[in-house]
Amino acid sequence: MNSFRILLSSLIVISLVLTNVKCYSPDPRVGQARILVGSNIYFFGGNTMNPRFTNQVLYLNLSSSFNITSPPWSQIAISPIPIPLHFPASCLSTDGSTVYLVGGMSQDQQNSSILMIPQSSVYAFNTNSLQWTTPSIINFNNTFLGREDINSAADSNGKCYFFGGYSSKLTAETTRIIYNDTNIFDTMAMKWSTLTLPNAPFACAFCSSVLKDNLIIYIGGIGSSMNKTTAGDQIDPRSGQSAVLTQDGRIIIYGGKGTITDIRAQPDVAVLDVNTTPYTWKAITDKAPQSLVYHSATLYGIYMIIAFGSITPSNQLSASASIILNNNLYIFNTQNYTWVNTFDATFTGIYGPNSTKSGPISLGAKIGIGIGVVAAVGIIAVVGFFLYKKFHNREGFRNSIATPGTQYI
Ligand SMILES: *[C@@H]1O[C@H](CO)[C@@H](O)[C@H](O)[C@H]1NC(C)=O
Ligand SMILES: *[C@@H]1O[C@H](CO)[C@@H](O)[C@H](O)[C@H]1NC(C)=O
Ligand SMILES: *[C@@H]1O[C@H](CO)[C@@H](O)[C@H](O)[C@H]1NC(C)=O
Ligand SMILES: *[C@@H]1O[C@H](CO)[C@@H](O)[C@H](O)[C@H]1NC(C)=O
Ligand SMILES: *[C@@H]1O[C@H](CO)[C@@H](O)[C@H](O)[C@H]1NC(C)=O
Ligand SMILES: *[C@@H]1O[C@H](CO)[C@@H](O)[C@H](O)[C@H]1NC(C)=O
Ligand SMILES: *[C@@H]1O[C@H](CO)[C@@H](O)[C@H](O)[C@H]1NC(C)=O
Ligand SMILES: *[C@@H]1O[C@H](CO)[C@@H](O)[C@H](O)[C@H]1NC(C)=O
Repeated sequence: MNSFRILLSSLIVISLVLTNVKCYSPDPRVGQARILVGSNIYFFGGNTMNPRFTNQVLYLNLSSSFNITSPPWSQIAISPIPIPLHFPASCLSTDGSTVYLVGGMSQDQQNSSILMIPQSSVYAFNTNSLQWTTPSIINFNNTFLGREDINSAADSNGKCYFFGGYSSKLTAETTRIIYNDTNIFDTMAMKWSTLTLPNAPFACAFCSSVLKDNLIIYIGGIGSSMNKTTAGDQIDPRSGQSAVLTQDGRIIIYGGKGTITDIRAQPDVAVLDVNTTPYTWKAITDKAPQSLVYHSATLYGIYMIIAFGSITPSNQLSASASIILNNNLYIFNTQNYTWVNTFDATFTGIYGPNSTKSGPISLGAKIGIGIGVVAAVGIIAVVGFFLYKKFHNREGFRNSIATPGTQYI
């Protein structure tokens, strides 16, 4: 009897421990927004294909070390986005308290196969109170309602820069637009401005951008038509890749798929040195555990942290098959260019507290009104698009593409 009791209570303890140890594991997705706030990477919305867009808010807590097989995910279930959102852009207030979600497409409440343009231009999330509000923004440009896959970069003065993106075809009669404008959202003044740059260079969707000094550098993507000569290793043209800027000025791109072929672009990881003229590519030989598109990459300390996205097909046959969403988290050491299985929190402060603010955002970068928009190439615009062919007109994209391009994160 006594030993039975002991056994019983042990079982209870064990089951409690197991319940607590079991980490929350979010649904895989594409088209999420992400932003680093302190030591948490927040993720908003996206398409989980379950059945479609989601309003979930998630975060990954980077304050302690972890094994990539059990990342410390949490969901803020009590405060989802007011509506499901696909491919919104994100922007952070200077004090780090408020995340603004800009644009993004929503869906009908009853029938997720019907797209719906959001009522509000911008949703604001307070990371302390977990409250959502819909701020009013002076001179907001209504073409951002429902605009998806906007490239964004932020400076240290509370200004967020938005470039390009596309609007979905809502009906068979409407046409898709791939934008080539640059907009500034001043989060201090709550004021919006649309710039018409004299050299407004090209349109872009699914490109990547980083903000370095006073340049926004766009890499890859669809619809671009401007090249910048680069030297160094051969890098496949691609779209849907990510890019991060390290503190010492290296741009690291990861993933993406080929422009003509829709398949895994090679190499998986490449480093662009923009301190040289011309810019120089270096291919990284350590093969990635997986190649992804439409994932999120975030720089934290020495690590590039890769989450979500879909698996890039490795051959043309699988490119036409259904989409496989990625369930795993991957971590790349940006110091010695190796893929690691452990996130070691002691390496995150290696460059001091500044490093926690990195990501696609360049520290202390100053952007004047005379923004330079540069297309860094070596990368040509991408055409393929298995992901959206279900609800996007593929031809529309092809027609809008001028061959080569570049871009964004
Ligand atoms: C992150 O994790 C640390 C320790 O592991 C914990 O103290 C902190 O409360 C967590 N933060 C959030 C927002 O969950
Ligand atoms: C991470 O977890 C996996 C599965 O539990 C285990 O096989 C592996 O040894 C762990 N790695 C480290 C570095 O702890
Ligand atoms: C949802 O909308 C689609 C497209 O308009 C339509 O074909 C489908 O029948 C609708 N489904 C339901 C359950 O109403
Ligand atoms: C809004 O953006 C569109 C597309 O770039 C542009 O044509 C229009 O002039 C902008 N509107 C304002 C008020 O700036
Ligand atoms: C930029 O967009 C405008 C308006 O959609 C269009 O008229 C113009 O041709 C575009 N420029 C390029 C280089 O794509
Ligand atoms: C960019 O480079 C590609 C490939 O070298 C070339 O086909 C294309 O004409 C170039 N475009 C421009 C605008 O220079
Ligand atoms: C890369 O750096 C990490 C720690 O920063 C170390 O554990 C690992 O052994 C290094 N790998 C190589 C190949 O140097
Ligand atoms: C961190 O930021 C401070 C203030 O912006 C600056 O003085 C310092 O040089 C930065 N440190 C590094 C390692 O970049």
